[in-house]
Amino acid sequence: MPISFKPLHQHFAAEVRDFDMRQPIDAAVACVFETAIDRYGILVFPAQQVDDARQLAFTANFGPPDIGRKNAVKSAEIRLPEEMIDLSNLDENGYVIDPDHRRVLSLLGTRLWHSDSSYQRPAAKYSMLRAVTVPRWGGETEFADCRAAYDALPDMLRVEAAERFAEHWVHHSRSTLGWEPTEEEIRGAMPPVRWPLVRVHPGSGRKVLYIGAHARRVIGMALPAGRILLRDLLEHATQPEFVYRHAWRPGDLVLWDNRSVMHRGCRYDLRQIRDMRRTTVLDLASISEPDCGEEREAA
Ligand code: OGA
Ligand code: MN
Repeated sequence: MPISFKPLHQHFAAEVRDFDMRQPIDAAVACVFETAIDRYGILVFPAQQVDDARQLAFTANFGPPDIGRKNAVKSAEIRLPEEMIDLSNLDENGYVIDPDHRRVLSLLGTRLWHSDSSYQRPAAKYSMLRAVTVPRWGGETEFADCRAAYDALPDMLRVEAAERFAEHWVHHSRSTLGWEPTEEEIRGAMPPVRWPLVRVHPGSGRKVLYIGAHARRVIGMALPAGRILLRDLLEHATQPEFVYRHAWRPGDLVLWDNRSVMHRGCRYDLRQIRDMRRTTVLDLASISEPDCGEEREAA
């Protein structure tokens, strides 16, 4: 049976049918997925039976790995391979970490709407998150379609956002929760980067709102005015009609395109195991996107 895609939402997200991720794929199949990702933004691969090595091998079909915050923040995460990001509340021995522990508090940053690695250049292209163990209640992941949201922007907001750039910084999202990076973390931080608020997705040609929790200001606007603009855009983009919520079952792998969608984790009982493992690929093409330059800053 050829691979097929079943839409899950009126705007985006599809479930992949008749595909077993244990099999290696060739360039033609990778291309089938890329075309589907350009259209749907999110692909759900239900109940796959893959281990870390197979997830890494599948990921490698789509580009070089992105390790995100690990670029900036030293961590003792040795539970998973170097190229995997641990979204779990588990220590290296597989025990639930105390909910007040720094690592679990840091994880709360993923509860804010964001696009992975928007604080670096290149940013992330695709993220692939796999559920190994899920809590009995909650712990879903929500996604917002930033293309459909752009299309539905009220004129006033569309005009305000046009041609503007936001600055994204690796420690910003957590600091809005009251989290204070250590001196060492600030010294080790990547310099902030700037992205247009509205980008064009290369695969679909659609305009996309590129915002989220890492964006800390709008270039050329007073700080409060820029932050309110970012909030208004975020509130618009995350209205229920643009959101798909994925309720995880063990073995599910969800792939999303960070250039098209934002995401956030949902509340769960932190005393229960939630073992989630992410692989990510870099968006190398984003390196050559125009930066806004210092002269706009002065304007
Ligand atoms: C991520 C992320 C949210 C979640 O994997 O990048 O933000 O539901 N995850 O764990
Ligand atoms: Mn994320």
